[in-house]
Amino acid sequence: MRLFAALLPPPEALDELAGALTPHLDDWPDLRWLARDNWHLTLSFFGEVPDRALPRLSVRLARAASRYPPVTLSFTGAGAFPSARRGRVVWYGLAGPVGRLTKLAASLAAGARRAGATQVDEKPFRPHLSVARARAEVDVRPLVSALAAFEGMPWDAPDVHLVRSHLGARVRYETVESWPLGGTTQGGG
Ligand code: 2AM
Repeated sequence: MRLFAALLPPPEALDELAGALTPHLDDWPDLRWLARDNWHLTLSFFGEVPDRALPRLSVRLARAASRYPPVTLSFTGAGAFPSARRGRVVWYGLAGPVGRLTKLAASLAAGARRAGATQVDEKPFRPHLSVARARAEVDVRPLVSALAAFEGMPWDAPDVHLVRSHLGARVRYETVESWPLGGTTQGGG
């Protein structure tokens, strides 16, 4: 099955994001806005994972999560991949202990590889929450500028979720398992 690890922000934090997006929704016919129910912060994308690897994956991810303390994050600013001028994915950015989040993401990816996942995404971790996609490049600089000043409320991420992605006309995400972040704060950043 197609799996990834993610943090799921609380509804209040997502409400704020949705509110800031509302004035722009009708201005971008070439963007496909992602369903708010699907919004998440990907930590590591594992791709197709064989069923037989799931028990091992579970053990590895639980262990990785237990090594990092819960994080307090906030959404801040916006951007687009690969760039605002040639936007294919529009996202909100994150503020908080991004260094720690990056290490957590790397640990989850390493755990998944050790558990037998062979399609783990190797791209450097860039914390973001995607809100729109485009089939072809769109110059979203005006949208990104309009959202640049956004600063959301702080929110706590207590758990890492293993999410299954059901592809189809409408993508659906389903939490398969989740594990509390643990650990004590050491350094951070
Ligand atoms: P995105 O939001 O930036 O598109 C499920 O597809 C989640 O995994 C999405 O949040 C997606 O990020 C992320 N992801 C990371 N690498 C991916 C990849 N190689 N293929 C598909 N999704 C990927």
